[in-house]
Amino acid sequence: MKMLKITSGVGILLSLLISAGCTDNTGTDVNNQSNYEQNSTSFTVDTQLPPSTHEKADSTHAYPYQEGDAIPALAYIEHDEVYNPESVIPPQCYTKTEGVNNPCYACHQSYDSMEKRPNQMGDGTLQGNYEFSDVGLTNSWKNLFIDRTSLIAGIDDATIKKYIAQDNYTASLNNDAMPDYMRIENLSAADKAFDGDGFAKDGSGWVSYNYKPFPSTFWPTNGSTGDAMIRLPESFQRLKGKYNKAIYTLNLSLVEMALKDLDKLTAAPVNELALNLDVNQDGKLSNSVTEIARLSHYVGDASDVPLAHMLYPEGTEFLHTVRYIGVDENGNIYNAPRMKEVRYMKKHMFRSRESLASAYYAEAKDKHFEKLPQTRYLGEKGIDNGFGWTINGFIENEQGELRAQHDQELAFCNGCHKTVGSTFDQTFSFARKVPGQMGWGYIDLREIEDVPNINEEKGEFLTYMERVGGGDEFRQNGEMLAKWFDEKGMVKVEEVQRAKSVYDIITPSPERAYALNKAYLTIVNEQSYLFGRDATLTKATNVLSTIDAEQPPLKPEHRFKWDMRLNWQQEKPSAIAEARQQ
Ligand code: HEC
Ligand code: HEC
Repeated sequence: MKMLKITSGVGILLSLLISAGCTDNTGTDVNNQSNYEQNSTSFTVDTQLPPSTHEKADSTHAYPYQEGDAIPALAYIEHDEVYNPESVIPPQCYTKTEGVNNPCYACHQSYDSMEKRPNQMGDGTLQGNYEFSDVGLTNSWKNLFIDRTSLIAGIDDATIKKYIAQDNYTASLNNDAMPDYMRIENLSAADKAFDGDGFAKDGSGWVSYNYKPFPSTFWPTNGSTGDAMIRLPESFQRLKGKYNKAIYTLNLSLVEMALKDLDKLTAAPVNELALNLDVNQDGKLSNSVTEIARLSHYVGDASDVPLAHMLYPEGTEFLHTVRYIGVDENGNIYNAPRMKEVRYMKKHMFRSRESLASAYYAEAKDKHFEKLPQTRYLGEKGIDNGFGWTINGFIENEQGELRAQHDQELAFCNGCHKTVGSTFDQTFSFARKVPGQMGWGYIDLREIEDVPNINEEKGEFLTYMERVGGGDEFRQNGEMLAKWFDEKGMVKVEEVQRAKSVYDIITPSPERAYALNKAYLTIVNEQSYLFGRDATLTKATNVLSTIDAEQPPLKPEHRFKWDMRLNWQQEKPSAIAEARQQ
C-alpha cells in the first residue's frame, strides 16, 4: 500500500530520503544489526582516510545537510549520528509547573526503605525540580512545538477511517517482519484472540489482562489506545511436562500476589483434589475453590522457583500494543486494528533486590560523574535495560508496516522502563491490573471505575487532574478542560465522581479521535519519531523548550507521595455507588 500524500513539503523530504536509501525496506531484523555494526565501521573508515579526501567525502555525499537545515529524523539514523543523547528523558519532564502543577509525581517517587522495594531509585526529589544534565537542559522533543492543524487539514475522515481499520500487525507477522514471539493470532480484533479468562486461543501462552491505564499519556483522549499481555515460561504452564490451564492460572495469580505484595486473590474455580494441592490453604482439599492464598513457591513444573517480593520470575514476558483510536458506527471508542507500535519486554535474568541495588548504584554513579546514559544494543533482540530486561519494539514505517525500531528510537524506552522510582520491577500496567479473576481478560475501560490509589481517598484520575491542572500532563487537551474543569480552572469533582467508569472520563469525542489519529499519521509520514511520538494537535505552550534558572520549583504542598497500585476495595461506599443508588 502506498502512503497517503499529506503535504507536498513532506513528500519532497521523504522522496529525497528514499533516493538516498534512507527507507526501512531492508526488513526488520537486519536494521538494528546494521546500525550496530555501523558504529564501528564508520569509525574506522573515518580515521583511515587521509585528511584531504576526508574533507571531500564529507562535502560530497556523507553529510549533505548544512547548519540550520531541517534535518529529517531518519537522516540522523542513516548517518548514525546521535540526535538526542538524553532520549531517556521523556517529554513530560519539560512541563511548566508554574510552581503548582505537578504531573511529575506519577514517575518520580521515593519510598520508605521499610517497604523493602526492589525499586531503589528514590527520585521523588525530581518532582518539579529541573535538575537536568547539560544536554537535558534543551528539550529535544521538537514535535511538541509543531502546529499540525494545516498538516491534517488535507486528510479526510474517510481516509483515516480506512487506514486505522487495517491490520498491519498480522501483515508484519506474516511477512516475517516481526518475530514469532510477538505473535498472538487475531490480536488486532481482540475479541477473537482470547477466551473468557484472557488466555490466547492460539495456544501461545499469552494472557491478556484488564488494567487501569497509566495517568495521561496512555489515556485515549491524549492520543492512543492500548492493551497488555503477560506470558510466563513453559514450566509455569505445565504439570509433569503437560500443559495444564489450572496450574497456569495458579502461577499467574501467584505472580500477581508477588508483584503487588498481596496475600490472597480470587481465581476461576480450581479443583484442589485433581491437583493434590491446598490452593486456599484451609487445610483440606475441595473440588472447587475460588480463592488462592499466597504460597512460598510457584506450582507445577515451576515448583522449585520461590516467589520474590515485588519481582517477576525469570522468563516473564510482556507484549504491549499502542494503537490508533478506533471509533465504531455508534461513536464508541475502541482499540483500532491498526497498531502504531508493538512493544515487548522479557525478563532474561532474575536479579535479587541486592543485585538490583548495585545496578541503581552504578546508575547513580554515572549520573554523578555526568556520564550520559548508556544503552546496550542487542541487534535484532532490541536493548538491554541493565536491570534484567530485554526491551524491543516495532513501529510503523512510511508505508504503515511495522518495522523494527532503530537503536536511537529504542534508547527512548530505557528511561521509563529503567530508572524511575514509581515502577514495579521496571514495569507499569501489571501492578495496576484489576485484581484476581475479574482482571483476566482483554482490557475493557467500561469495567473499571476511577478507584483511588492505595492510601488515598479520592479517585486516581480525579486526583491526577486536580494535581496537574488539566486532563493531560501538558494541560492542553481542550476537550478535557471543557468537560471536567470549570471557568476558574477547578476540577468539577462531583461530575468526575459521577462517571460510570473510566471510559467516560478518558475517551475522546469521535471528532477529537479522528484529529489525533491524523496528527499522528503525519509523524508516521515524516518518520520523525526521534523528535517525539506525541500526537499533539497544536503547538505545546505549557512545555519548556529550554530550561533556564528562572523556573520556580514546585512548592512543597504540591509534591506528592504516590503508589501506582490501586485500592479496588473501598471501605466506604464510593460517591459513584451513592450516585448510582439515587
Ligand atoms: C512518564 C514518566 C515521567 C514523568 C511524568 C516525569 N518524568 Fe522526569 N524523568 C522520567 C524518566 C524516564 C527520566 C530519565 C531517567 C534516567 O535518567 O534514566 C526522567 C528524568 C528527569 C530528570 C533528569 C534527571 C537526571 O538525573 O538526569 C529531571 C530533572 C526530571 N525528569 C524532572 C521531571 C519533572 C520536573 C517532571 C514534571 C514536570 C517530570 N520529570 C515528569 C520520567 C518521567
Ligand atoms: C514515558 C514513559 C514510557 C516510555 C518512554 C516507554 N514506556 Fe512502555 N510503558 C509505560 C507505561 C506507563 C506503561 C503502561 C501502559 C498503560 O498503562 O496503558 C508501559 C507499558 C509497557 C509494556 C507492558 C508492560 C508494562 O510495563 O506495563 C511494555 C512491554 C512496554 N511498555 C515497552 C516499551 C517499549 C518497547 C518502549 C520504547 C519503544 C517503551 N515501553 C517506552 C511507559 C513508558
